[in-house]
Amino acid sequence: MSHSQHKQATFQYQDLGPASSNSRAEILAGLREERKRISPKYFYDDTGSTLFEEITRQPEYYPTRTERHILTEHAMDMAAAIGTGTVLMEPGAGSCEKVRLLLDALKPTAYVPMDIAGDFLQRSAAGLQRQFPWLHIAALRADFAAMPSLPQGLPAGPRTLFYPGSTLGNFSPLQATSFLRHAKRLVGDGGTLLIGVDLHKDSATLNRAYNDSAGVTARFNRNTLHHLNRILPADFEPLQFSHVAFYNSDCHRIEMYLESQTEQTVTAAGEAIYFSTGERIHTEISCKYSQESFTALAAAADLKVRNCWRDAEDLFAVFLLTSGET
Ligand code: TRP
Repeated sequence: MSHSQHKQATFQYQDLGPASSNSRAEILAGLREERKRISPKYFYDDTGSTLFEEITRQPEYYPTRTERHILTEHAMDMAAAIGTGTVLMEPGAGSCEKVRLLLDALKPTAYVPMDIAGDFLQRSAAGLQRQFPWLHIAALRADFAAMPSLPQGLPAGPRTLFYPGSTLGNFSPLQATSFLRHAKRLVGDGGTLLIGVDLHKDSATLNRAYNDSAGVTARFNRNTLHHLNRILPADFEPLQFSHVAFYNSDCHRIEMYLESQTEQTVTAAGEAIYFSTGERIHTEISCKYSQESFTALAAAADLKVRNCWRDAEDLFAVFLLTSGET
């Protein structure tokens, strides 16, 4: 790939990107369905990754700052429970920001950030390398939902998978269970999983978090259509779709859609896709858990909750999971 040919930093970078024809078939299949959907991974092109960073700074979006607070406060406890000298992996690492809060305490032998947005990941990993020159970084551009195998040449020893940001909540409970099973296999015996989870709470707080008043989440959601226009190609008019996000309290999840403002026909990879007024494309869910429901989810993947750190208001939790046997 052209980008890896002129890498400036000393960290390793490997591209395991999906073949574009696969993604095209997958996107079209979603748009042909009775209830249209686009996989959330298409949020994250370069612009999408930047917009997501901006979401995390919005006053209404409490998860990021709350999780950062928990990680800062309890980094030493977490390191004591995990043990220093592990190989630390992070699917969906994006800006590689949160891991900084753990590195000094955890002292991993290697850090393996993975993300679907390759350019963004390369820049983040380069920045991290400058700040932590001692750290062995092996960055991997990959669709982590496919749980790729790890790069060669990583140090031996226990492994830890770091999955912050309530990203596990973006899977359905069934998908989350299979992700956790894969993750368990990837870390192997004696491995641990450190997972950030957004907790059940009142609907108003949740609705505000996914409908920030500056409209950044709306732009982020619509950016998916710009992204599809470029990669398919397609001729979506993103402003003809509005951002809809609300908490479904029965299912304990945020549901997010793009809603067609008019009757319109879009051409996507040569195919006509019809939208009636008010018709929605499903783009994302964000499931919320309680201590009990998350413990049950972990158990379904044969994992045990070893530890749980939360903020004083019980907004967010960071769970440490280990294999069932230990
Ligand atoms: N993991 C984040 C969450 O569920 C992702 C997220 C936050 C997100 N805001 C978003 C995803 C808006 C799509 C749109 O909270």
